[in-house]
Amino acid sequence: MRGRFITFEGGEGAGKTTQIDRLRRRLARLGHSVVVTREPGGSSKAEEIRKALLGGRARDLGPAGEALLFYAARLDHLEHLVRPSLDQGIHVLCDRFSDSTRAYQGAFGKVDPRILGSLDRVIVGETEPDLTIILDIPPDLGLCRARRRNEASKEGTDRFESEGEPFHEALRQAFREIAAAHPERCVLIDARGVPDEVEEDVWRAVGERVRALTLPVQADAHVA
Ligand code: TYD
Repeated sequence: MRGRFITFEGGEGAGKTTQIDRLRRRLARLGHSVVVTREPGGSSKAEEIRKALLGGRARDLGPAGEALLFYAARLDHLEHLVRPSLDQGIHVLCDRFSDSTRAYQGAFGKVDPRILGSLDRVIVGETEPDLTIILDIPPDLGLCRARRRNEASKEGTDRFESEGEPFHEALRQAFREIAAAHPERCVLIDARGVPDEVEEDVWRAVGERVRALTLPVQADAHVA
């Protein structure tokens, strides 16, 4: 079986990292091979681009220039990690993907959707996610969680976390609109609850959309 590609999206502090890890563990317990990755990043060149983007060094390029860099990173990530994994039957769980570009650079940065659409067709092409989980959280709660996490890990805020609350509210709306526009691919999940509750909602969504993943791997499946 070809691997399935699941992306996680949402604003700051929505709990993506926690939920990706919980889904990874659940899938592994059923015998699935899973790789967890992130954007921007996930491959060595893409991680270099990540440093420039999140460090704010690309800010002067403006949102369209930043979008090109996000897609340059995506190109490398798809080529070196995502597609080879899917080809080998490894499921890929990715922390952010093209919907983040649509929300951050598109909806908020006002980059022409035709530019983003063209980039996506050429660079992502048929490697569209099988499922996109969008974790929805009010910005005040999300930012509060993100700050607590940064304090605990002694990390500073990055280029995008340091934007004000209107930015985060606009992002939330953008993700909600993306979910409504692509109901066949996206599931919007209320992320206000405790991690156990959100985990169950994620698992239910995976079961409804990619049922094979919630079933144990057949011992002889790889022989055929
Ligand atoms: P990260 O620390 O991974 O953020 P988070 O924990 O919120 O997922 O940093 C990624 C940042 O980059 C995040 O603020 C969203 C932003 N981003 C874009 O603006 N466009 C993109 O296409 C992607 C993938 C991320």
